[in-house]
Amino acid sequence: MDHITPPKPATARRSENLSGTVRVPGDKSISHRSFMFGGLASGETRITGLLEGEDVLRTGEAMKAMGANIRKEGDTWLINGVGNGCLLEAAEPLDFGNAGTGSRLTMGLVGTYDMETTFIGDASLSKRPMGRVLDPLRLMGVQVVKAAPGDRMPLTLRGPRHAAPISYRVPMASAQVKSAVLIAGLNTAGVTTVIEPVMTRDHTEKMLAGFGADIEVETDKEGVRHIRIVGQGKLNGQTIAVPGDPSSAGFPLVAALIVPGSDIVIENVLMNPTRTGLLLTLQEMGGNIEVINQRSAGGEDVADLRVRGSELKGVTVPADRAPSMIDEYPVLAVAASFAEGETLMQGLEELRVKESDRLAAVARGLEVNGVDCTEGGDWLSVRGRPGGSGIGGGVVETHLDHRIAMSFLIMGLAAEKPVAIDDSAMIATSFPEFLGLMADLGASID
Ligand code: S3P
Repeated sequence: MDHITPPKPATARRSENLSGTVRVPGDKSISHRSFMFGGLASGETRITGLLEGEDVLRTGEAMKAMGANIRKEGDTWLINGVGNGCLLEAAEPLDFGNAGTGSRLTMGLVGTYDMETTFIGDASLSKRPMGRVLDPLRLMGVQVVKAAPGDRMPLTLRGPRHAAPISYRVPMASAQVKSAVLIAGLNTAGVTTVIEPVMTRDHTEKMLAGFGADIEVETDKEGVRHIRIVGQGKLNGQTIAVPGDPSSAGFPLVAALIVPGSDIVIENVLMNPTRTGLLLTLQEMGGNIEVINQRSAGGEDVADLRVRGSELKGVTVPADRAPSMIDEYPVLAVAASFAEGETLMQGLEELRVKESDRLAAVARGLEVNGVDCTEGGDWLSVRGRPGGSGIGGGVVETHLDHRIAMSFLIMGLAAEKPVAIDDSAMIATSFPEFLGLMADLGASID
């Protein structure tokens, strides 16, 4: 999203039972990494099912600016990568728009190159902390030549002639930080180690192994993961079929649960256990979700989800589940708004540094729509109104955050009164098909 795009308000209204079979777009995390690793590897990478959202396309543009050849033929993206260690200096600043993952992982990627790279982004991305990635990169010898106050974008990195391998214990549960360090290790002689006390999504480890990197993961007696990567090896182009994004699937999934009488199928959803926390929580809440056609595709588990309208009840969601559903709390809060009793969500400190302060944005959105909630420093409790009586009537401030926008549109489908959002334009960063897909299921959003 660039900040000159005019806002596009939208309103969702109570809808009849949702029905139909849909496919959500490809997983965002895997799509970013497919472009990055394909652009870096030697030889050809072929990608199907790629998420063609603005965030991912920005990563593709960045890889092109550093020498990768990326094009689309029919439904397949074809990449001829530069070869590990062979990225070129970008002539212009790399503009990552709204994308935290694209920018942070690319900082790891280019930071260890003896060249200068400037990162810019939209108003939301420019507020997000980059120090969590820059700190370990500094230990490897990377210079932050310029940055906005608080290690924020716009910022410029200059790599050393020879980066130093490090052993780094990730201080917060963040797949982006883990990934940035491992990716920096790709262009660093010796062994770079990431110690991960709390497991987060493991797409970087799995995909780098698939591309031929010398990487191993060992889990110690305390459950702490030690991930070691040997730098400067060869990466080979791969064929990748990107499965459907479980975070995007969360929107039609919750919609079908809260709109009475609904019965939908969402096909081809990624079921990697580091991503299924929302599914588990909704099942604990009494959600009627059948996991069918479980299969393995391209090294990942995938399945279809049959979802029916359900009477939900409040639950306590433990803090240790946060990494496996970190992007799903906004839509879970919407489900909780229709549940009997209280839902307590703990361990939410990372929500404060997403595309918006998601904890505050969700709490304000619930309040203006008549839902009783309490916002703590790192927790949220929601007291639901089964049937949706009294819910709605508010205009939600989205703060350039796609998941806030989509979550509150889902709320409007089962609320007594319409729910409006101030802007829907940024939904295109992760789920450009959202409005069309929801309309196909029978949702009333205009
Ligand atoms: C992502 C990691 C998570 C997640 C983001 C995608 C990734 O961020 O919120 O949408 O692809 O590595 P953090 O690492 O900041 O938790």
